Amino acid sequence: MKVDDAIVYGKSKVHSDLAKMLLADLMNVNSLELLMMLDDEVDEEVFNTYKYRVDELRKGRPIQYIIGNVNFCGNTLEVNENVLIPRFETEQLVEKTIDKIKELWPDQMIDLIDLGCGSGAIGLSIKKKLNQVNVTLLDISDQAMDVAKRNASSLGLDVKYILNDMLENLSNRYDVIISNPPYIRDDEEIEEIVKNNEPHLALYGGRDGLDYYRKILAHIRENIKNKYLIAFEIGDMQKDAIYDLASKYLSNYQIECFKDYSNRDRIIFIYNE
Ligand SMILES: C[S@@+](CC[C@H](N)C(=O)[O-])C[C@H]1O[C@@H](n2cnc3c(N)ncnc32)[C@H](O)[C@@H]1O
Repeated sequence: MKVDDAIVYGKSKVHSDLAKMLLADLMNVNSLELLMMLDDEVDEEVFNTYKYRVDELRKGRPIQYIIGNVNFCGNTLEVNENVLIPRFETEQLVEKTIDKIKELWPDQMIDLIDLGCGSGAIGLSIKKKLNQVNVTLLDISDQAMDVAKRNASSLGLDVKYILNDMLENLSNRYDVIISNPPYIRDDEEIEEIVKNNEPHLALYGGRDGLDYYRKILAHIRENIKNKYLIAFEIGDMQKDAIYDLASKYLSNYQIECFKDYSNRDRIIFIYNE
């Protein structure tokens, strides 16, 4: 079978862009290169795997889990069903935090912890861009941590790992605490593809979605240095509640909220210079 025929087959089952992505991945080329080789033969074994993957996609499995990786902040990261698929909005959290670190600690070595690291997307992307940061990745899931470790290794990054329930019984102090914790309300309607495939441990944050912000902020004074930055990704309706939580557990701080490209409140910085 030729590449062209394989694409026609895929297009009859799933969206043509996705069919091309699946085939390109199996043939180790990008989607553009694939279109230059329409007359090339597709090996039988490759075609069988392709057929299987097209079927998986049709059944509602996310393409990122099928292919096994995503591009996040310019890096290729392994993902599987044990980790959240890193989102575009989270790239904004990474970029804004890098700018803030440069502003608050120009050229100084600092310690950062990524709480609920999942694939390691946030902490590893920051480490890759800013060598002045000692990064620790923390998650409660050892399966997620295994993915994060493989990602650190494939990116050649030296970071520390802690398997723990957020900051419970941790005495280390950090300059930067960053987190994209689970923040979906337990009764919130979410897309079927997310609900059926991504780990619920990475999604749900209790009755009001705020359990993890409460848990993190309640003891955070024991884990921050005098000068600190706390950076959170938040759900778009959670800004006011998190401002209240910050005032309950911290004093003498500055707080800022940033919107995403769809004009929704999605990032909060709490800091003390
Ligand atoms: C929304 S995901 C974020 C993953 C990754 N940081 C990202 O942005 O793509 C939340 C992560 O928190 C982890 N998690 C859930 N409960 C936790 C807990 N009690 N302590 C530490 N991590 C937890 C989950 O395993 C998951 O990896």
